[in-house]
Amino acid sequence: MENVFILDHPLIQHKISMLRDKNTGTNEFRALTDEIAMLMGYEALRDLPLEDVEVETPIEKCMTPMLAGKKLAVVPILRAGLGMVSGILSLVPSAKVGHIGLYRDEVTHEPHEYFCKLPSPIELRTIVVTDPMLATGGSAVAAVDFIKQHGGKNIKFMCIIAAPEGLEKLHAAHPDIQIYVGHMDRCLNSAAYICPGLGDAGDRIFGTK
Ligand code: PRP
Ligand code: URA
Repeated sequence: MENVFILDHPLIQHKISMLRDKNTGTNEFRALTDEIAMLMGYEALRDLPLEDVEVETPIEKCMTPMLAGKKLAVVPILRAGLGMVSGILSLVPSAKVGHIGLYRDEVTHEPHEYFCKLPSPIELRTIVVTDPMLATGGSAVAAVDFIKQHGGKNIKFMCIIAAPEGLEKLHAAHPDIQIYVGHMDRCLNSAAYICPGLGDAGDRIFGTK
């Protein structure tokens, strides 16, 4: 699929396996999520635009590349997407951070919006949307819809685990965005949880439930 990137780096795969383990506690889960987001960010940001700027080394002046344009925007889908922000900020500390609050109705599995705030001007930035789990794809599609309605153009979506159903839905709704996936899982169960997955990512990051 064009614009879909499955990141099969061994370090990412190893850390995802540790995340899945039900005996991995909150502290370690947070640290692993952070590290995976950083490793995925390194891959996902390899096409950031550069421009040559003049720098004076101890030897001489030279033209040398630096990141160009407006600062990157990282936009986590609340809550679980928050767990991936600091990993990306460790790569790009000057990035702006927006927030999109969505929760899935437990019965219909439809996303409901409760908070949105994006950095301005959003249309000039590369935008990285983060959410560890792409399950039915409802939350991701709603988040990207919202960002596009507000003028966002250059959008990347980054998730740690995806179900085939969610990936297909997001790619069909938004074929123009780049989707980065840490691991493709088998399917969804009747409660729309990813199998084998890792359970409820928000609860595991924040220690709720
Ligand atoms: C989880 C997850 C995604 C969403 C994925 O959030 O973090 O946002 O479900 O499911 P979908 O692809 O079927 O929409 P949840 O609604 O549990 O909220 P939380 O992050 O606050 O726990
Ligand atoms: N949200 C989660 O946190 N986990 C799943 O498996 C599906 C949706």
